[in-house]
Amino acid sequence: MTVVPGGPILVEGPVEVTLEDGTVERSDRFVTALCACRRSRAYPFCDTSHRRRVRTDSGKPDAGKPDTGKAGDEGG
Ligand code: FES
Repeated sequence: MTVVPGGPILVEGPVEVTLEDGTVERSDRFVTALCACRRSRAYPFCDTSHRRRVRTDSGKPDAGKPDTGKAGDEGG
């Protein structure tokens, strides 16, 4: 396991997570990111919500916005 500071816990191999209510969530990925911040909408898995920051006055998120796979040009 690898703990990412301010982010998820990375676990190698398939994992099963038993939640507080007894529900079992399974991931078959090579590496699974488990949410450690409790902000994920896909809890117990990380959905990158830990990266979100306060929006600027222009309404655009600052540098902490999730990766989209595209370089910074948002057009206009
Ligand atoms: S650690 Fe990534 S959403 Fe919680």
